[in-house]
Amino acid sequence: MPKLFTNIYLILLAYLISLSSTHANTCRSYCGNITIDYPFAIQYGCGHPGFRDLLFCINDVLMFHVSSGSYRVLDIDYAYNALTLHEPHMSTCDRLVLGSRGNGFTVEPWRAPYMNPTSDNVFMLIGCSPRSPLFQGFPGKHLPCRNVSGMGCEEYYGCPAWDMMGHKRAESSFFGSGPPECCAVAYEAIKGINLTKLECEGYSSAYNVAPLRVDGPSEWTYGIRVRYSVQGSDEFCGACEATGGTCGYGSDGIRQVCICGNFNSTSNCDSG
Ligand SMILES: *[C@@H]1O[C@H](CO)[C@@H](O)[C@H](O)[C@H]1NC(C)=O
Ligand SMILES: *[C@@H]1O[C@H](CO)[C@@H](O)[C@H](O)[C@H]1NC(C)=O
Ligand SMILES: *[C@@H]1O[C@H](CO)[C@@H](O)[C@H](O)[C@H]1NC(C)=O
Ligand SMILES: *[C@@H]1O[C@H](CO)[C@@H](O)[C@H](O)[C@H]1NC(C)=O
Repeated sequence: MPKLFTNIYLILLAYLISLSSTHANTCRSYCGNITIDYPFAIQYGCGHPGFRDLLFCINDVLMFHVSSGSYRVLDIDYAYNALTLHEPHMSTCDRLVLGSRGNGFTVEPWRAPYMNPTSDNVFMLIGCSPRSPLFQGFPGKHLPCRNVSGMGCEEYYGCPAWDMMGHKRAESSFFGSGPPECCAVAYEAIKGINLTKLECEGYSSAYNVAPLRVDGPSEWTYGIRVRYSVQGSDEFCGACEATGGTCGYGSDGIRQVCICGNFNSTSNCDSG
């Protein structure tokens, strides 16, 4: 009899501990099959302030919203601090989307320190006007167009999407007959992909995470790979979590806050 009570007591204790530990992270959540954890969050006041008002879960689809528009989040890679985005007006190997309907990629200036497309992500700008800033003001007509991580327009022209355009390979030289139909750039080179400003008809984006070169544009992964960073070592959140708290931010949207069960602290849960 006493043994049974001990067992029940232990089970109850284990249950209470598990309950309190799930309660401890009040901010972690899911959207479809994507885990949303620090520095991201979908609840107000959770996560790092640099990522506030960024992610929205709509019918189990995780959406990412910045100044250039909305994107679907395909994946959040917490180990590599990267997320992968897609949007329907982005051209791929199968389909060119023209008419300047694509989002491109630009973020609010205050958000820029927290996220940037990765250096192994190529943006391929399609059908840009000869007046485009891409082709202007580069001393000695030095074009920013180049291959990124082994991916570039020469190979992209081989995609089925270009067959319908009647792409003429021989005419793709800038000095021959107008600007190239496609110009590949790294995000860093022009800091912001705004199709209106660049006077381009469309764009595609692909990235290469594998250490080995992928064979041909039909094998590339299309999407925007964005690296995120909380800036600095984030000692605040480390100390907060070490004392059993969950990291969030205050109503000013700037100050970090440590959420500790029944109170919030401006440092950690050991100092109420
Ligand atoms: C999540 O679900 C989608 C289909 O809804 C699937 O393509 C994807 O691989 C899944 N991701 C993970 C990490 O399980
Ligand atoms: C603590 O902060 C979170 C996030 O800002 C907020 O939702 C919650 O109501 C606050 N709790 C208390 C007790 O102030
Ligand atoms: C893109 O550029 C246009 C023209 O310069 C500007 O009006 C618009 O606000 C820019 N869009 C974004 C998201 O920065
Ligand atoms: C990019 O790569 C393709 C295929 O390897 C090559 O033909 C082309 O010359 C390269 N372009 C540049 C600018 O290096």
